[in-house]
Amino acid sequence: MTYTYYKQDSFKIRRWAITKLLIACLFCTFIVACFVALSPITKVVEECECPSGKVSAVVREQKVSDGARTQASASKHKLAVLVPYRDRFEELLEFAPYIHKFLNKQDVNHHIYVLNQVDRYRFNRASLINVGFHESSKDCDYIAMHDVDLLPMNPHLSYQYPASRPFHVAAPKLHPRYHYPTFVGGILLIKREDFKRVNGMSNKYWGWGLEDDEFYVRLKEAGLNVSRPTNISTGSEDTFRHLHDRDRRKRDMTKCFNQRAVTRRRDRQTGLLDVSYTIKSVYEMVIDSAPVTILNIELRCNKTLTPWCECEESQKTDISNKGSFKKPDAKTL
Ligand SMILES: *[C@@H]1O[C@H](CO)[C@@H](O)[C@H](O)[C@H]1NC(C)=O
Ligand SMILES: *[C@@H]1O[C@H](CO)[C@@H](O)[C@H](O)[C@H]1NC(C)=O
Ligand SMILES: *[C@@H]1O[C@H](CO)[C@@H](O)[C@H](O)[C@H]1NC(C)=O
Repeated sequence: MTYTYYKQDSFKIRRWAITKLLIACLFCTFIVACFVALSPITKVVEECECPSGKVSAVVREQKVSDGARTQASASKHKLAVLVPYRDRFEELLEFAPYIHKFLNKQDVNHHIYVLNQVDRYRFNRASLINVGFHESSKDCDYIAMHDVDLLPMNPHLSYQYPASRPFHVAAPKLHPRYHYPTFVGGILLIKREDFKRVNGMSNKYWGWGLEDDEFYVRLKEAGLNVSRPTNISTGSEDTFRHLHDRDRRKRDMTKCFNQRAVTRRRDRQTGLLDVSYTIKSVYEMVIDSAPVTILNIELRCNKTLTPWCECEESQKTDISNKGSFKKPDAKTL
């Protein structure tokens, strides 16, 4: 019996001890919880628990100033710099590192594609741009149709994403040589969907000139008026550096067959969808820290449609280059 009593008594004592211990534990937990809730550690914990970088990027964007936010949102876009090219090695060596630094200063996410024409036909700038459009990474959502010999000097020339309409960087008032109001050559920024919408550029322009004037008419017909730089204090002498040495390199202005007549009209037949080519090889190069993709492109020529893609001395019809692209009238529109 005593034994039993002792057992019961000891049990009571132990139960009381456990209860006290439990209360102490609950109290401690409560204190710690309060401390955690009030301390700034919470914030860190929350930030660490963000599922992806996206959320913290949004938070950061809310904190930065207006100007910085513009850059942050611009970085979602990527520019493919498309450079039609043939036999201009010295110019490329100057161009690639220069434009790479220029675009980095503007925080423009970009990649340079050198569109090197390696077939035997005459140079076809427009077809090369069509090919560059097809072959450039699809994460580039806009392109620059960019002459290799034209370097932007004024840092205020913007290469940002042209959200509303194409942006003509080499405006007539700023280009060293071409000052007519419908000029869209030299350097033009256009988003992928706009380029697609006009079926890219005509494939009929073998030899130098007029393909950009035809492209102007495509844009105009689609209601895509280009915009141009504003508030630029430099002029036609000091906005761009023109690398082209006209005395050393003669432009291919030859006209063969009915080329002159055909290339002065709007082309409704050819463009981005039917450009015919083979990529012979691709090289990834770095020129003075500028990453560059060289595409060796073999264009194909439909001799029925454009016999002037090759032009023998005997077939020349006219070597002068008077006249210009036919002004679009009611009939051609
Ligand atoms: C484009 O410019 C023409 C005048 O040159 C104007 O009539 C037309 O409304 C403009 N279109 C757009 C979409 O801005
Ligand atoms: C125009 O450019 C100058 C400097 O070149 C700058 O100070 C000014 O704020 C600019 N104005 C506008 C409206 O962007
Ligand atoms: C070449 O052009 C002609 C005239 O437009 C066309 O009938 C023919 O199908 C084309 N040939 C090829 C191989 O595309």
